[in-house]
Amino acid sequence: MDKLLIAGGQRLSGDVRISGSKNAALPLLAASLLTEERVVLTNIPQLHDITTMVQLLGRLGADILIDERCSVEVKAGTQITALAPYELVKKMRASILVLGPLVARFGEARVSLPGGCAIGSRPVDQHIRGLQAMGADVQVENGYVHARVTGRLQGARIMFEMPTVGGTENLLMAACLADGETVLENAAREPEIVDLALLLKRMGALIEGAGTDCIRVQGMKSLHGCQHRVVADRIETGSYLVAAAMTRGDITCRDTRPDLLDAVLLKLKDAGAEITTGEDWIRLRMEDRPQAVSFRTQPYPAFPTDMQAQFMALNAVAQGTGTIIETIFENRFMHVQELNRLGAQIAVDGHTAVVTGVPTLQAAPVMATDLRASMSLVLAALVAEGETLVDRIYHIDRGYECVEEKLRQLGARIRRVQ
Ligand code: EPU
Repeated sequence: MDKLLIAGGQRLSGDVRISGSKNAALPLLAASLLTEERVVLTNIPQLHDITTMVQLLGRLGADILIDERCSVEVKAGTQITALAPYELVKKMRASILVLGPLVARFGEARVSLPGGCAIGSRPVDQHIRGLQAMGADVQVENGYVHARVTGRLQGARIMFEMPTVGGTENLLMAACLADGETVLENAAREPEIVDLALLLKRMGALIEGAGTDCIRVQGMKSLHGCQHRVVADRIETGSYLVAAAMTRGDITCRDTRPDLLDAVLLKLKDAGAEITTGEDWIRLRMEDRPQAVSFRTQPYPAFPTDMQAQFMALNAVAQGTGTIIETIFENRFMHVQELNRLGAQIAVDGHTAVVTGVPTLQAAPVMATDLRASMSLVLAALVAEGETLVDRIYHIDRGYECVEEKLRQLGARIRRVQ
C-alpha cells in the first residue's frame, strides 16, 4: 500500500496549476446519462473517484472515450442497463448521483444504497423523498434503492430538510426531464451545483436560480449533447494555500477561481497571510507564524467542511488558540488523534475542537482516514521536524491530482514509497 514520506521544514514557493473539481466532475459525468447524444467534459481531474464514476457509466452501458488531455466523452445511447451494483457504489458514495438521471430518462433504476462512511452516516433520505414527490415509487430492498415511475416524473415543489449538495444535484438532474415545473427549496448553493446547472443548460435544460436556495426547473422532453469545461477545484486551491501559509511560503495558484473561496481567503487573511488575486489566480505570501483562527463549518458560501481538517493543521502550529465547530458531518474529527501524534494539542468535545498552537510538530508515522484528513496530515508533515510517513494515502488519491508532484514542484521534500 502506498505511503508518502515527507521531510518537514521546506518553505513552499512557486506556481501550482489547480485541477478541475472532483466534486463538480462527478455529477457532470452522471448528467451525461440524461441524453443519448455525446457529452464532452474537459478539465476532468485524473483521480480514483473519477475512474470509479467512469467505470460505473461503462457498466451501465455508456460508450466512453478518454483522452490524455483530461477530457472524457460519454455517449449514453439507448442500450443502458439501469443497475448500479454494490461493488462500484461501495467504492464511492457519489455513485448515488446516477439515480435521478436514470429514473428520469428510463423510468426505472436500481442503485445500491451507499453504506456509512468514515466522516458520518450520510443517509440519502432527501434524494429518495424528492423522487417520491416527483411521482416515483421508491423502495429500498436488499440493499438497493429501486425507483420506478410509469410514464415520466412529474414536476413538484420539493423542500429539503437541510441543504444537501448531492440531494440537490440528483433532483436537479431528474427535474430536467420531468413533466412541468420543479421547484427545489432550501437547495444547496455550492459552486459545484452552479457548474452542473451550466452543463444542463448547455444540454438544453431550462433552469433558474442555481447558486441560490431556490432553483426552478422547467422539464423538457429530451436534452442534447454539448461540451463543457469542469470548474476549478476550490478545495484543492484552499489546501495548497494553507500549505503555503503553514510553511511561511509564497505561492500562486493558477487556473482557479478566487470568487469561490471568499470564506477561506478571509480566514487565511485573519491568520496573517497576504493575499492578492486576479481573475484566475491567487497569490499567498506569509512572513510570520500564523495566528490561530476560529470558525464553524457551514453550507456554501460559509466556511466549507472540506477545508476543516486543513485549517486544523494550520491552527496546530499557530500562535494562540482556535476553536473549530463542525456542523455538517458528525464524525469529521478523525484526523485529531493523528495530528496529536505529531505533537499537536487538540482537544475535542462533541462537535467542537479546541486547538492550542505549538511552535513545532515532530515527525511520526501517521495514518490517513479520509480524503481531507489525509491532506491535513500531509500539511502537518510539511512543517514537522524530521520525516513523517503518512500511511493509507489511497484516500488522498481519490481527491488530489498528482499531489506529490505538485508539492515537490513547490519545493516540498515528498516522495511516494511502498
Ligand atoms: N444528509 C441527510 N440526508 C440526505 C442527504 C444528506 O441527512 O439525504 C446530510 C448528510 O448526512 C450531511 C449533510 O446532510 O450531514 C450534508 O450532506 P450533503 O448531501 O451536502 O453531502 P454530499 O453530497 O454527500 C458533498 C461532497 C462532500 C462534501 C459535502 C458537503 C461530493 C461528491 N461530495 O457530499 O465532499 O463534504 O458535499 O459540502 O460532492 C470531500 O470532497 O471530501 C467530500 C466529503
